[in-house]
Amino acid sequence: MARWNTQAILTASLASAACCQQKILDLSAVNWTVSNSNSSISVPGQLPSQAHLDLYAAHVIDDPYYGLNDFNLRWVANSNWTYTSGPLHDLINSSTTWLLFNGLDTFTSIELCGKHVASTNNQFRQYFFEVSSILNSCVSSPVLSINFGSAPQIANAIAAEPGQETWPTGVEGLFEFPNRQFIRKEQSDFGWDWGPAFAPAGPWQPAYVIQLGPGNIYIRNSLVDIYREGQLNNLPPDQTKNWVLNASVDCLGSLPPNSALNYRLLDSKNSTILHGRLTNITSSNTTITGSVIIPDRAVSLWWPNGMGPQTLYHLTIEVVDSSSSVIASVSKRVGFRTIVLNEGVITQEQLDQGIAPGNNWHFEINGHEFYAKGSNFIPPDAFWPRVTESRIRQLFDSVTAGNQNMLRVWASGAYSPDFIYDLADELGILLWSEFEFGDALYPIAPEFLDNVREEVNYQVRRVNHHPSLAYWAGGNELENLELYLVKAVAPDQLDRYTAEYEKLFLQTIVPVLFGNSRSISYSPSSTSNGYLELNFSWPVPIVERYQNLTPGSLYGETDYYNYDSASAFNFGSYPVGRFANEFGYHSMPSLQSWRQAVAPSDLYFNSSVIQLRNHHYPPGGLNTTNFANTIKGMAEMTLAAQRWYPVPNKADPVANFSAWCHTTQIFQADFYTSQIQYYRRGSGMRERQLGSLYWQLEDIWQAPTWAGIEYDGRWKVLHYRAKDIYQPVIISPFLEAETQNLEVYVTSDLWSPATGLANFTWYDWSGNRLNISTPTSAPVTVGALNTTRVLQANTSGVLSGYDAANAILVMDVFVEGQMPNSNVTQTFKHTNWFHAAPLSQAHLVDPGLSVSYSKTTSKFVVKASKGVAAWVWLDYPAGVVLNFDSNTFWLLAGQTKEIGYTVKNDTTGGQWVNEVTVQSLWDNTIP
Ligand SMILES: *[C@@H]1O[C@H](CO)[C@@H](O)[C@H](O)[C@H]1NC(C)=O
Ligand SMILES: *[C@@H]1O[C@H](CO)[C@@H](O)[C@H](O)[C@H]1NC(C)=O
Ligand SMILES: *[C@@H]1O[C@H](CO)[C@@H](O)[C@H](O)[C@H]1NC(C)=O
Ligand SMILES: *[C@@H]1O[C@H](CO)[C@@H](O)[C@H](O)[C@H]1NC(C)=O
Ligand SMILES: *[C@@H]1O[C@H](CO)[C@@H](O)[C@H](O)[C@H]1NC(C)=O
Ligand SMILES: *[C@@H]1O[C@H](CO)[C@@H](O)[C@H](O)[C@H]1NC(C)=O
Repeated sequence: MARWNTQAILTASLASAACCQQKILDLSAVNWTVSNSNSSISVPGQLPSQAHLDLYAAHVIDDPYYGLNDFNLRWVANSNWTYTSGPLHDLINSSTTWLLFNGLDTFTSIELCGKHVASTNNQFRQYFFEVSSILNSCVSSPVLSINFGSAPQIANAIAAEPGQETWPTGVEGLFEFPNRQFIRKEQSDFGWDWGPAFAPAGPWQPAYVIQLGPGNIYIRNSLVDIYREGQLNNLPPDQTKNWVLNASVDCLGSLPPNSALNYRLLDSKNSTILHGRLTNITSSNTTITGSVIIPDRAVSLWWPNGMGPQTLYHLTIEVVDSSSSVIASVSKRVGFRTIVLNEGVITQEQLDQGIAPGNNWHFEINGHEFYAKGSNFIPPDAFWPRVTESRIRQLFDSVTAGNQNMLRVWASGAYSPDFIYDLADELGILLWSEFEFGDALYPIAPEFLDNVREEVNYQVRRVNHHPSLAYWAGGNELENLELYLVKAVAPDQLDRYTAEYEKLFLQTIVPVLFGNSRSISYSPSSTSNGYLELNFSWPVPIVERYQNLTPGSLYGETDYYNYDSASAFNFGSYPVGRFANEFGYHSMPSLQSWRQAVAPSDLYFNSSVIQLRNHHYPPGGLNTTNFANTIKGMAEMTLAAQRWYPVPNKADPVANFSAWCHTTQIFQADFYTSQIQYYRRGSGMRERQLGSLYWQLEDIWQAPTWAGIEYDGRWKVLHYRAKDIYQPVIISPFLEAETQNLEVYVTSDLWSPATGLANFTWYDWSGNRLNISTPTSAPVTVGALNTTRVLQANTSGVLSGYDAANAILVMDVFVEGQMPNSNVTQTFKHTNWFHAAPLSQAHLVDPGLSVSYSKTTSKFVVKASKGVAAWVWLDYPAGVVLNFDSNTFWLLAGQTKEIGYTVKNDTTGGQWVNEVTVQSLWDNTIP
């Protein structure tokens, strides 16, 4: 599709009288050499790039993702790498020349023509340096060189500085390299429990030489903020008000006196809707800001996936001089929506509805509460320069296919590039965004805070116009984990570290964020108990609640992990809260993914290579001789599989390994399904629970992790189960272990009531109907964003005289209703399964499963001819990435199911259809 460039576009052709010569040299078009300090290694480089990628392309190193290269390539992270350009030929004589870097990772010393230009120390800032005098005195064709220091070495050196900040032992979340909190670099580059530690270095974002004539300016960044008149951050606005469009541009060069701003708003067909001058202009010599009222009736709303259309507009902002000549312009694609995190006090009206007191914690889109369904997005690769738009499009297509409407873009990776927000704008995926801090406490030295201010200002202005931007959080697991750890290990220092936490996440970040944007909500920490007070007459309007809790009241979000698989399906152990922003359990990737990364001889469960790619738990110094903790993480997966499912014991070692990997995925998916249906049911319970974002959407590499989608895009069992349980209307069983009380609920996240019927039928594993004395059907009326109980029974009562290990309850629901913002009535249907005993004890029978491919319908036909098939799994070979329309379902004896598919990437020339296999849990019992 045609893509609007959201970077600044200089309209040189429009710059008439005032202008003269100017030139923009894209430094990606220049030849680069990458060398180490003594030049014993010197290879061709790219820009944007990172040293590992260029060394790999030059065959100096092996694939960083292969085997144990996470450990073997530490020498790359511990070296300096200098990127040196070829001679920069085509420069012109101009009055001013700038170097503009959109991202340098991380510590650099920059030289032009042999002269020092500057040093940098923040991966997330845009840097620009005027180099006119260096260039003017350069005798030959100038050469640019950027010397990247070793981030792990520099982090250690900063930590060792006299008087440096310290924290109580155990507070820093330590994975592989220590001291990440001292530096402004992707925190997971130093290792995380789901990823490797490469600590890459290089010019990871585009860079330019900008040459300007007298009076020329170049737009290096811009801000567009669209909000309802009177709107304030974190507060639901009045939806009847008109829109305010506030725009601001940051320039290289100097704005002429009395500059002004024009705007032009186009619809998706490029028809002009509105245009004119912005009013209330304020400016410095490099930044100019203005605003205009956009009448509500002039534009249509943007909605998230499943709630309405993703209406987008093109906005052009022109800078004009005092004679109204256009001297620069920038275009951004925008949308009109309000999205607010409502953390307000539970109202009397809500109390009257039975909602527990305390505070809300949910999102509202265009004034509507909705159920946030989604997952956590981590860095999709350890090396960002190889993350392409097509890879993210494929991943995000899986997000919407999986019935998700929100991703939490986890703090401690990198700020998402604009193309990621652009795709989310188009697909209706809300991006809960975070500043890049997590699982540590951070310094508050003035230079550190200044560095963060610049970072926040650049990033907030760069992305604020995207309608998919849902929210900003200060960082990951700060209040609920970091301050909690301080309280546990050094309670007498809690006040000090809380004050330091507020200095960074409230006093430093809030003025910059709220100074740029009135459209966005902020909370300093994911997870927290929310704010205690919000008052815009204070310099920093947010006061956090912390442990200021009233018993019986509910506050904030929940973050829940429990690796004791014995309680996995005991819903009484799940947190009761307003919103679940993290929860999960790890599983193995598929055999197909393992084969991309490990040698055939390592394809067994506890091979050292497989174990060392499992980074859970963080041992605080994982290395090739330190296995103790990784064994614990491996055992959690195998114990869970053994406890809850029949486990494989196959003669063929690779088939056995593959079956074990798959069984760990079944447990993972089963556990998440159990939690998601519980959290969704909470929308109609006293907690008024309105969101579940599981940990985690996708993999950064091939390893045992919490992901639902593997590194190459292949769906694990989890992503299919999440797709199923994130449908708008679901039916789900809840068994209370102690009382054996079974309840079945229908839960809906539609915005209007739905009515229909639920059916209940008991079978044994051979497929015979059992005459168990529960109702066979129940009428259903489920309210908007609500839940309703449709069956209640005591299983020890109704199953007396039956063998619990040979009894299965099939439940389905059919209701008529309407999707949000639609007046088309449609049928919503969902099926679910309840087994009274764990599947590890079930009297499974051979279901006689078969699969065939129909060329005429392009569908696979799966049949269970002899018995009930549990966790039916269609598998496909390596060389193709696709997803089936449905997978991991159950089939009744004699039942047939047709299944379509979507191919994302095929290198088999279509041959894969002949290699699709089908299996179910029964297959685990076959040697
Ligand atoms: C880059 O190097 C290649 C091969 O040495 C050469 O053909 C090309 O002209 C160079 N490009 C520039 C912009 O210097
Ligand atoms: C390594 O890089 C850092 C940052 O650019 C620089 O300060 C240092 O002098 C470099 N060391 C060497 C040996 O090049
Ligand atoms: C812009 O203003 C700043 C201070 O306000 C001043 O230091 C700087 O020299 C000015 N730049 C130009 C190009 O006039
Ligand atoms: C709208 O204009 C942009 C920028 O000129 C162009 O890329 C795009 O193709 C146009 N879209 C339509 C629908 O004409
Ligand atoms: C311009 O400023 C005035 C005075 O503060 C305010 O009333 C008006 O709403 C502003 N206009 C816009 C478009 O922001
Ligand atoms: C590996 O880690 C262990 C435990 O942290 C440590 O004692 C040992 O020195 C480390 N070995 C190497 C080679 O770094």
